[in-house]
Amino acid sequence: MTFDIQKIRADFPILKREVHGRPLVYFDNAATTQKPQSVIDALVEYYSSYNANIHRGIHALAEEATLRYEATRQSVADFIGAPSADCIVFTRNTTESINLVAHSWGRKTLEPGDEIVISAMEHHSDIVPWQLLAETTGAVLRVLPIDGEGGLRWDEVESLVGEKTKLVAVTQMSNVLGTINPIAQIVKLAHSHGARVLVDAAQSIPHMPVDVQELEADFVAFSAHKMLGPTGVGVLYAPQALLEEMDPFLAGGEMIRRVSFEDSTWNDVPWKFEAGTPNIADVCAFSASLDYLADLGMENVRAHEIEMVAAAMRRLSEIECVTIYGPKNPEDRGGVVAFNVDDIHPHDLGTVLDQHGVAIRAGHHCAQPLMGELDVVATARASFYIYNFEEELDALVEGIDAAARMFRAPARTGA
Ligand code: ALA
Repeated sequence: MTFDIQKIRADFPILKREVHGRPLVYFDNAATTQKPQSVIDALVEYYSSYNANIHRGIHALAEEATLRYEATRQSVADFIGAPSADCIVFTRNTTESINLVAHSWGRKTLEPGDEIVISAMEHHSDIVPWQLLAETTGAVLRVLPIDGEGGLRWDEVESLVGEKTKLVAVTQMSNVLGTINPIAQIVKLAHSHGARVLVDAAQSIPHMPVDVQELEADFVAFSAHKMLGPTGVGVLYAPQALLEEMDPFLAGGEMIRRVSFEDSTWNDVPWKFEAGTPNIADVCAFSASLDYLADLGMENVRAHEIEMVAAAMRRLSEIECVTIYGPKNPEDRGGVVAFNVDDIHPHDLGTVLDQHGVAIRAGHHCAQPLMGELDVVATARASFYIYNFEEELDALVEGIDAAARMFRAPARTGA
C-alpha cells in the first residue's frame, strides 16, 4: 500500500460517519472530495482571527488577509509548476475559468470560419462555452472522436487540427471514462498550426503530478473542491503575456486601475480578472489542501489510485452482467470507473448502493454527448481518492448484488 490509509482517514472527520446504519464508503470523489481537518480549521481560522477584505485596507487584519490570499496564489503556482503567481487567476470553479477564456480571449480572437476543436469526451463545461462563443463569432466547433476504449482517435486528431484551428479545448482526464489524454502531444500539434490549447484539468491536477510549463498549454483550468479544498474556488492558469493580451471578464471593483465617467483602465494581471470581493476564506483554506497533497506527494496519490482502480475493475469484472467503460489498462486511466449493471438504471443502482452506505454518482455526469457515443443514457460511476481502500469495494460489490437481486438482473459474482 502506498500510504498509511488509516492515518489519512483519521484526518477526515466525515469519514467517521455512518449512512443508513453502514460505514460511509465515499466513492464520489470526481464530483467533490472530502476535506481534512486542516482545511476545515483554516476556514475557521480565517473567520475567527483575520476576517477582512483584501487589497483595500491599511489595517492589520486587511494586511494579514491580503498576505494569506496572495500566499495561496503562490502555493498554487508552485503546485502546478507555473513560472509565477501572476499566471494564476482565482475564479469560482473550472466552469468559470473556461468561460473566462471564451469571453476574454475568444471573443476578441475568433473570426467567422475559425475552428474550435473539442473532444467527444468533454464535460458540458468544455462544450457549451465554445458553442456560445461559436454562435457569437461565427467560428465552427469540430469534435475529435474516440475509439472503443475511450481513447482519442489520433488519426482524426491529426486531420481535424489544422490551419483553421484557433483553439483546441480538451480534458486531461475524462470524468467518466478516466481516459488520460496526451496533452503535450496535442499542444505540440496545435502549436504547429498556431492554435492555442485549453486543458480542462479538473480531474487531473487533483490526481496526478501536472507541470503546466512541461505541458506548454496556454490555458489550464481546475477547481479546489476536487482536491481537498473548499467549494467556490477555481483556478485559471495562463502565461502572463497571454493574460495581458486578454480583455477583462467581469467588471467592477478591484479589476480597475482608474475609473472616470468617460472611461476606465485595468488593473495588472491577474487582478484584472478578479472583479469584486473574492472568495477570501476559501482561497486561504485552499492553501491547507495544497500542503496536504504536497506532503503526500502527487506521484504517491497517482500510484494509490492506480491500485484502487485496478482492484475496482477486477472486482467489477467478476460480476457477469457489469459493463465497464473506458481504457482496459488501469495505468491508462484516472481514479474513476464508470459502469452499468445489465439493464438496471444507474439511478436505481445508486439508490440501492446508498442503502449500503456507498456514495457513487449515477447519471450522465455532465457529459451527455459522451453518453450518446457510448450508446447509453447514463452510467454508474465510482471514483476514488487518497482515503479509499480496497476493502471498501466489498460494500460496492454487495450493493450491486443486492440491486441485481432486487431488479431481477442475472448478476453472478465469480468470487
Ligand atoms: N464534474 C463533476 C463530476 O464529474 C461534477 O461529477
